Amino acid sequence: MSGEYCLISCVLLLMVSLSVGLQNGNMRLVGGELALEGRVEIYYNGQWGTVCDDNWDITEAQVVCRYLNYPGALTAVVGGTYGQGSGPIWMDDLNCEGTEKDLSHCLFKGWGVTDCQHAEDAGVVCERESSQNSSRVYTLDHNTGLSNHMGELFDSGRDCDFDIMVRVANSAVETICVHKLIVTLDPNASILNTTQEENLSNLNLDVSLNCRPHVTDFLRYLYTRQINVTMSSAQCIHKMASDWGLKQLQEAAGRLFTWLLPDDASFQTQTSLYEYSVHTGDTVLQETCLRYLAWNCESLIRSPAWTGLALGTVKALLARSDVVVPDEAFLLKGLEDWVLEQGNSSTHEDQVAILNHIRFPMIAAEDLFNLKAKSELYMDQQERYNAGMLQGFQFNALPFQTLAGGLLLKKVEYTPRIYTGKPWSFTFSSKDLNTFRYVGHYSHSGQNLNSLSANFDSPVHNSAFFSLFKKLNWNTRVFIHNHECSNSGIRCPSLPMVSLTAQNNRELPQEYQDSIRYLNKVVLMCEGEFVFHVQDFASTIGNGGNQAQIPANISAGQAYPCHSDQFSYRVVVQPVYTTEIKEN
Ligand SMILES: *[C@@H]1O[C@H](CO)[C@@H](O)[C@H](O)[C@H]1NC(C)=O
Ligand SMILES: *[C@@H]1O[C@H](CO)[C@@H](O)[C@H](O)[C@H]1NC(C)=O
Ligand SMILES: *[C@@H]1O[C@H](CO)[C@@H](O)[C@H](O)[C@H]1NC(C)=O
Ligand SMILES: *[C@@H]1O[C@H](CO)[C@@H](O)[C@H](O)[C@H]1NC(C)=O
Ligand SMILES: *[C@@H]1O[C@H](CO)[C@@H](O)[C@H](O)[C@H]1NC(C)=O
Ligand SMILES: *[C@@H]1O[C@H](CO)[C@@H](O)[C@H](O)[C@H]1NC(C)=O
Ligand SMILES: *[C@@H]1O[C@H](CO)[C@@H](O)[C@H](O)[C@H]1NC(C)=O
Repeated sequence: MSGEYCLISCVLLLMVSLSVGLQNGNMRLVGGELALEGRVEIYYNGQWGTVCDDNWDITEAQVVCRYLNYPGALTAVVGGTYGQGSGPIWMDDLNCEGTEKDLSHCLFKGWGVTDCQHAEDAGVVCERESSQNSSRVYTLDHNTGLSNHMGELFDSGRDCDFDIMVRVANSAVETICVHKLIVTLDPNASILNTTQEENLSNLNLDVSLNCRPHVTDFLRYLYTRQINVTMSSAQCIHKMASDWGLKQLQEAAGRLFTWLLPDDASFQTQTSLYEYSVHTGDTVLQETCLRYLAWNCESLIRSPAWTGLALGTVKALLARSDVVVPDEAFLLKGLEDWVLEQGNSSTHEDQVAILNHIRFPMIAAEDLFNLKAKSELYMDQQERYNAGMLQGFQFNALPFQTLAGGLLLKKVEYTPRIYTGKPWSFTFSSKDLNTFRYVGHYSHSGQNLNSLSANFDSPVHNSAFFSLFKKLNWNTRVFIHNHECSNSGIRCPSLPMVSLTAQNNRELPQEYQDSIRYLNKVVLMCEGEFVFHVQDFASTIGNGGNQAQIPANISAGQAYPCHSDQFSYRVVVQPVYTTEIKEN
């Protein structure tokens, strides 16, 4: 009797002690590449289970991320993006305020009460805690030698003779007394021209509320020619410098944006800067911002900033040839979300204009087929979708000559973007690079390799027509040390260098070999966070060059800075039809 009793109670005891520390409501993220993303799993009644994505949005995601000690959430992810869980679906129809300690404090149907399937498992991407927050400071120094004395003069306000009235929304919030002679010293300063009165004794400086904290720094710059700029102040400094006519400061602040853009993972800064640059007609800044958005389009679409973008920004982005996304279907889904979020404020014409940028032929045939059933915009835009689908099916089914004969291929829709999804890419992660750098070998598919090299297959071309032919086998390799280059008999003018070479595909008829060219790319990602550089494989010889030199740092040509060696190389195969199509 007592033995039997112990058997039961001891098993119970064991079960309890195995789950020590785990309590109802504990949460974890599963299935992401990084610790800060994944499928949300919650512990209840001795078992991990998942959360259904019905009603799942950024508010619920915030609760999860804060619970896991991240500063906040970047994205609420739906539809089993991080794989389908197993076990119970513990929660459904969650409704949080955003301030709850964990999900169990939000409203929901009740533990395990759900009509969902695991295909609807919810996930999150959290903000990293990170050095990447806005704390990075850049010092602009246009020092004249007298900076310290001049700074003291400004700070003391001694003998000042000129009042700057700082105004926000037309009401004065502060008066700063300065020396007229000094603040008008800059030959380029145009601010005083607006009122030509000789004995002008004060001046209004109109700023927005968020720029007000930076006015003092700006005025002090007029004395010292030195200023510290951060992500939160850069746009204000740029704006005041251009209002004031301070070319040197304006240009320097403009260049800083290149450095600062990656510092904001929420995309608020990049998108607002882009709109600002359009407003001020600063084309250099426009390009800096837009290229960043294009390269980071996947994260942008997943971010809360996405659906708030202006129509002009979305159009400008889509018109670029360097948009990096997993595939075209992902982009279409993102655009549909954008359109739906605009509600009544986007006209039918706007929607068509947006959809016209979608490269329907680049969407896989199955995905095209599913659009009618799955797209939330289909009913409103049947005509546009049907035309796109027809074009897509033609592309997938017909041989190159037929399409070329019909002059269809002249259109940009037939050219892939930089698709990072499978089967078009292969990634060397920062982990691969580090093991190789420090341990001297690297493992891929269970093999230990003594060079950083891998093979992967891709179809010959995006068109399903080519699935009849044998796949291309690509070899890709990263060269880090000089001896690796010399051992392989290749010249590495600089390191690191990446190569990507296709094995000859003799099965493919010559006419097709001649009609396809590869414009392959390397996409560099910093700390799994943002794309900071995209590089072509060199030259245009034959099948495209097969080597890409990676600039070592931003002064050597990298586009945006990565303040870390934790970055990954992703090689992307980009096949395009080559034959020039003759006009008339
Ligand atoms: C940036 O990080 C520091 C230290 O981790 C923190 O104190 C600060 O609040 C963070 N700033 C923002 C804007 O998140
Ligand atoms: C400001 O005045 C200076 C000198 O009078 C002149 O050279 C300059 O062009 C003016 N700038 C503007 C923007 O009016
Ligand atoms: C400028 O100063 C002179 C003499 O100090 C004064 O008479 C005149 O009214 C002033 N003008 C203005 C617009 O304040
Ligand atoms: C900029 O920041 C550095 C470090 O905090 C400080 O030493 C320097 O005085 C600052 N310069 C200005 C112009 O504020
Ligand atoms: C004044 O403007 C010219 C032309 O834009 C520029 O070359 C010069 O550096 C500027 N000077 C200062 C002190 O900002
Ligand atoms: C859109 O317009 C319709 C009718 O004009 C209106 O009933 C509906 O509430 C509007 N929706 C939004 C999201 O503004
Ligand atoms: C960046 O690259 C340049 C040119 O290759 C080199 O001179 C410089 O030392 C590099 N800087 C850093 C921090 O690696």
